[in-house]
Amino acid sequence: MSTLQLKSLRKQFAPDVIPVKDVNLTVEDGEFLTLLGPSGCGKSTLLRLIAGLEQPTAGEVRLGDQNLNRVAPGDRNMAMVFQSYALYPHMTVAENIATALKLRDVPKAEIQQRVGSVSEKLAITHLRDRKPSKLSGGQRQRVALARALVREPAVFLLDEPLSNLDALLREQVREDLKQLFEEQQKPVVYVTHDQTEAMTLSSKVAVLLDGVVQQLAEPSLIYTQPANRFVASFVGSPQMNLLTLKCEGDRAQLGPVGLPLPTGIGSPSTVIFGLRPEAIRLAQAGDSLKIPGQVFLVENFGREQLLSVRVENSDLKLRALIPPDQHWERDRLELTWTPEQSHWFDPQNEQRLETSSAAQPAHSSL
Ligand SMILES: Nc1ncnc2c1ncn2[C@@H]1O[C@H](COP(=O)(O)OP(=O)(O)OP(=O)(O)O)[C@@H](O)[C@H]1O
Ligand SMILES: [Mg+2]
Repeated sequence: MSTLQLKSLRKQFAPDVIPVKDVNLTVEDGEFLTLLGPSGCGKSTLLRLIAGLEQPTAGEVRLGDQNLNRVAPGDRNMAMVFQSYALYPHMTVAENIATALKLRDVPKAEIQQRVGSVSEKLAITHLRDRKPSKLSGGQRQRVALARALVREPAVFLLDEPLSNLDALLREQVREDLKQLFEEQQKPVVYVTHDQTEAMTLSSKVAVLLDGVVQQLAEPSLIYTQPANRFVASFVGSPQMNLLTLKCEGDRAQLGPVGLPLPTGIGSPSTVIFGLRPEAIRLAQAGDSLKIPGQVFLVENFGREQLLSVRVENSDLKLRALIPPDQHWERDRLELTWTPEQSHWFDPQNEQRLETSSAAQPAHSSL
C-alpha cells in the first residue's frame, strides 16, 4: 500500500502569488485523481510539490506512513511526465526511455524488453534511434509518457501528457493509458484541461480555482451535482446556461414564465438558475413547461445543433443542444426540460442550493 496524502498543503511564491492554498487530498493505490482547472490555478505547482521539485510553505506530502517533506525528489520514487516533456536532448528515444532503469541497474535484457513493450504500446518503436530535436511535439510527448510508464514507481504524476496529440491519437492513447494504469495499481495524479480525459480516465476529480479545491468527487457527480457556480460553468461542454433570475414567492421569473422553485431552498429574492444545453428539448403539445423564444444563432456540430435562443420578453439567453434532424421556426419556438435537471445556486456565495428531493449531497465523502 502506498497511499499518497496531501495535508493542508500551501505554496506561496510572493505575498500575492499563492497557487496552492490549504489543499487536502488522498489518493489510494489504483486510484486515478484528475486535477481540473483553468490556466494558472495551481495544477503544475501542486504536482511539483508532490514530486519534491518545490518545497511547501506549509503542510505535508505523505506516502504511506512517511512524511516526504525532507525527502529529495530523486528518492521519492515518483515518475513525472512534465508539461514541457523534459527529455534529454543528447540521448536517443530508446536511451531516454531506458535512463531510469539503467540508473537502477536493471539487467540489460530486461531493459530491452520493457522499453520495447512500452514503445509498442505508445506507437513510437520506429522512432527509437532519433534524438528529441527530430521529433514532433506529439511524438516527444509519447516518449515522455513511455519514460514514466517503463519504471515501476510508487506514484505517477502526469501534467497534460496528451495535450499535443491529434484527436485520433489522443483517443487511442487515452484507452491505452486507462489499461496501463489499471494494471499498475498505483496512485495516479493527472492534470488536464480536457474534460473527456478527466471524465473517462479518473476515479475522482478535483476541480481547482485559485489554488483551492472547489469540489472533490467522482466524475459523474461533478457533472450532475456541481458544488458551486464555478464548477457548474467549468465542467461540461457546451457550457451550462447560468442565469440570475428574480424570484417572487415560490417562483423564479424566466421571461414570461414563472419557474416553480424547488422545495428546500427557501424563498430567495434572486437565484442563479443553471441548466445544461443537453437537458433542453423542443416542447411538444403535451408539455406543461414551455419557454417561448427566438433563435439568434445556430451552430451545427454534425451530431447535434446548438441553438442560441433569446427568451421572449427578456434579455435572457438559453443555449439548447438538440438533434440535427429536428425542425424549428427561427422567429418562435418553445423550449422545455425536466425540472429535476435544473441546478440552483445562491447568488451571494455561489454555492449549490440543495433541494429537498436531491438524493445525494454535492460533496461526496471520497
Ligand atoms: N516558480 C514560480 N515563481 C513564482 N510564481 C510562480 C512560479 N511557478 C508558478 N508560479 C505562479 O503560480 C501560479 C500557478 O501556476 P501553475 O503553473 O501551477 O498553473 P497551472 O494550473 O499549471 O496552469 P496551466 O494550465 O497554464 O499549466 C501562476 O500564477 C504562476 O505564474
Ligand atoms: Mg501547468
